[in-house]
Amino acid sequence: SRDAEMFLPDDPRDRSDLHALRAAAAGCRGCDLYRDATQTVFGEGGPNGRVVLVGEQPGDQEDRRGAPFVGPAGRVLDRALEEAGIERGDVYVTNAVKHFKFKQTGGKRRIHQPPNAGEMRACRPWLLAELRILEPDVVVSLGATAGKALLGSSFRVTKQRGRLMPLPDLETIGTPAAARELGDEPPGEADTRLLATIHPSAVLRAEDRDAVYAGLLDDLRIVAGALG
Ligand code: URA
Ligand code: SF4
Repeated sequence: SRDAEMFLPDDPRDRSDLHALRAAAAGCRGCDLYRDATQTVFGEGGPNGRVVLVGEQPGDQEDRRGAPFVGPAGRVLDRALEEAGIERGDVYVTNAVKHFKFKQTGGKRRIHQPPNAGEMRACRPWLLAELRILEPDVVVSLGATAGKALLGSSFRVTKQRGRLMPLPDLETIGTPAAARELGDEPPGEADTRLLATIHPSAVLRAEDRDAVYAGLLDDLRIVAGALG
């Protein structure tokens, strides 16, 4: 198979190096999305990131610039993080899928397309490797795709957003077993916790932007509280 695993460095010590991981991901051919996109958009942020934010996939501007959340959704996210009191230095931002998937219309516009289950599965090893290296205090999934990448396909943002849960075991993450692992027990202090919220682009699409933004902010304030 041409799973992204085969592009990960063999030596586990290399896997502990975010720079080596990023370099390896630049050459990934784990699914077909590398063909039409400009570049792999790997995660970025404070190396001692206490919070890892997981989006869906890079958008048009991220694809051109090679960095996550630098377009319109990123501006919403930046504002919400600042208002919630989460320091940028504490944050590492990445995506469930690391190449831009789009449909080209007649003109120059490239229309974002959601990644399918196969693309999400192919790309998951990169996200898992990032989480293993960073060992954050809190992982925040932004929107349905990121939630599914971590909790499996039964994940629903509307049902599961806004509360701290234990992060499923990295071996089962994104599978039905990950969803089953989430009992009613609150996560212990020592565990990595997961909080699901909406995608910041939902604010931009919403009829009632202020209310949707306020919901995102409420959720991020819970994350800020968990960091102490
Ligand atoms: N939307 C995402 O999910 N990720 C990005 O990096 C940009 C927009
Ligand atoms: Fe590899 Fe992910 Fe890009 Fe597919 S989307 S080629 S798995 S980095």
